[in-house]
Amino acid sequence: MDKLFFDTNAPMADLDRVDGRAKVTGAAKYAAEYDLPGMTYGVLAGSNITKGTITAIDTKGAEKAPGVIAVITHLNAPKIPGYDEGTNPAKGQTGGKGLRIFNDNIIRFNGQPIALVIADTFERATYAASLIKAQYNKEAPHTDLVDAMKTDKPLEGQRYNEVVRGEKDAWKGAPVKIESTYIMPIHVHNPMELHATTVRWDGDDKVTVWEKTQGVKSTQQSVMQAFKLEEKNVQVNAQYVGGGFGAALRTWPHAIAALMGAKKTGKPLKLVLTRPQMFTLVGYRPEAIQKIAIGANTDGRLMGMMHEAAAITSTYEAFNEGLVKMTLQLYACANVTTKYNIYQLDVSTPTWMRGPGEATGSFPLECGLDELSYALKMDPIELRLRNYAETDPENGKPYSSKFLKEAYELGKDKIDWKRRNPEPKSMKDGEWQVGYGMSTGLFGAFRGQANLAAKLYADGTLLLQSAVSDSGPGTATAMVQIASDAMGIPANKIRFELGDSSLPPGPTQGGSSTTSTLGAAVSNACVTLKKKLAEAAKKSPVFGGDVAVESLDFSKGELSLKGDDSKRLSYGDVIKGAALSSIDVIENAVPNPAMQKYSAYSYSVHFVRVKVHPLTGVVRIDKIVTAADAGKIVSYKTAESQMIGGVVGGLGGALMEEGVIDHRYGRWVNNNLADYHVPVHADVPHIEAYFVNKPDPVLNPVGSKGMGEIALIGFAAAVANAIYHATGKRIRQLPITPDKILEANSI
Ligand code: MOS
Repeated sequence: MDKLFFDTNAPMADLDRVDGRAKVTGAAKYAAEYDLPGMTYGVLAGSNITKGTITAIDTKGAEKAPGVIAVITHLNAPKIPGYDEGTNPAKGQTGGKGLRIFNDNIIRFNGQPIALVIADTFERATYAASLIKAQYNKEAPHTDLVDAMKTDKPLEGQRYNEVVRGEKDAWKGAPVKIESTYIMPIHVHNPMELHATTVRWDGDDKVTVWEKTQGVKSTQQSVMQAFKLEEKNVQVNAQYVGGGFGAALRTWPHAIAALMGAKKTGKPLKLVLTRPQMFTLVGYRPEAIQKIAIGANTDGRLMGMMHEAAAITSTYEAFNEGLVKMTLQLYACANVTTKYNIYQLDVSTPTWMRGPGEATGSFPLECGLDELSYALKMDPIELRLRNYAETDPENGKPYSSKFLKEAYELGKDKIDWKRRNPEPKSMKDGEWQVGYGMSTGLFGAFRGQANLAAKLYADGTLLLQSAVSDSGPGTATAMVQIASDAMGIPANKIRFELGDSSLPPGPTQGGSSTTSTLGAAVSNACVTLKKKLAEAAKKSPVFGGDVAVESLDFSKGELSLKGDDSKRLSYGDVIKGAALSSIDVIENAVPNPAMQKYSAYSYSVHFVRVKVHPLTGVVRIDKIVTAADAGKIVSYKTAESQMIGGVVGGLGGALMEEGVIDHRYGRWVNNNLADYHVPVHADVPHIEAYFVNKPDPVLNPVGSKGMGEIALIGFAAAVANAIYHATGKRIRQLPITPDKILEANSI
């Protein structure tokens, strides 16, 4: 690590994951791994048409099959009280109606659940589900965005439908300009852990749910709303979550089906989606077609930009995201027009997926900048620096912190950018064409509200508790690190309890905000703990009565008088001396009101070196360097893992991933992990992640900003830009597979 770029005053923590051993030894239990006495197994049968109505459904074969306990369809489904009040828990963020499972006979997408079969084993339920026979009144499916853009009216009144900043067509009058269309297919989250719900009703109005969720409190709210239950009667557990990427941010219809099924039979029930169901029942990143136009002066200063996006949603929900936001936010450009249309198709509802919006919008924007750099004959980093925003271009506010320039420098140095010959198609390694590409990623740095309980015990151990879940970034590890740094207590004496809705309410893990939000609560709680320790220490003769917290040093895991550390007391002795068993703090940390004066973003800069084989079109990514401004890095090892993981996701999106629907039938073609390609170990090159590691002084007391989203945002553009540099071929459609490279002409 280069000292120049790191805040050498900050401890460069290298804590192992506190839950790492449990995860790799199999001791960690996930939602589908809880076995309850009398367990039953639910399996969903799906529609094999895409659009229409069910005219008849034959469940007799399934009902008579061995081990079957119940079959639920729209004809006999128990009423969900919340459905009638418009408080459908599956409505998500869109304000739409959500899919009310088994509520009517209308088929809205291929694979929509038409029956839940409950049996005494998973295998018997799976077999019986195959015996469900439905007859349909079938209508022609409409799933093709290209068709929709020709024939349909987009949904009105969406966020970012049209934003005009400055002069509308300013880019057209610029001396140097580019205009291109970029296409991105459906991407799916498909974390390793399948979505699963295990349910046990503990009474008519009391239930315990083990759920794969990124938010135990939000799942609790959904279940309360659906079944009209009191908060204290809904217990949601998510001790471990095997990846989410956004797919576990909302309560999906299958979870409601599981609750419904267990209620009907009076027995505990476990429902695990199949891998194919993971492609249609828990959201995906919507397909998008985007036009980008950028005009600049000959000195590289941007005169105008235009970004027009079209994306898909379902017929029953209007999912939209910040697809065009980055174009408005990243560069200093007075004249920017964006337009974002969504089209309703006969597909299931998309949802947020890692870097939601920006991951899609950064592809045309950051490739467009690259195109412009060649048109200007200017280094692409230099072009970005000439248009570096010193204040937020959307509202003129200063940044609470911005170290993007430092990230460019850091990444440029580590990839050895100076070896790049600016001329496309000029570098070779044997038969292979070599290219360097880069791009920028941006995502808002957010902070929400979090409650936390902290208990410092007389034996010197510290317990922290909050109702959050950790889908993988290493939240417990980061929180333990923050507390360890603040209190001087070794990490192995600190425990962070999460994944339990009965703990003090914490945030949903989304929008790269957990460390900022929850870390603030941990940090504040430690400040209060220190005050309480100082107060309790009054009773000890060591400090001779009153001692101000400011005159005490806590960095060694004990109280010692600054300037005279012969006067010292262990935390345990303070607690025992005050005749307490523990010192307890309940913290409610809220966003810093001072943030209203600032804008806050995290930034990533991705650099890739590729080799392209001119005869086969095969792309090998040779080296990846990602440099980020994510504020202060509180837990180095998990931060590095998170950046590497995001890059691997970005690599999949750039070169492999593509959700394919056969538009003749509206049916998925590759809804399995054999045909939907994701990177395997052999596809992943050496990845280096670096951090500027400078604290944000305003956002939260920890100084951290978000990291989960920027790890992926922009990455596909860096790959496309490197391929252009290697080959002179500009591929504007993902994934960049060998056929596209072979077909494309040099431009
Ligand atoms: Mo993320 S898409 O906020 O899980």
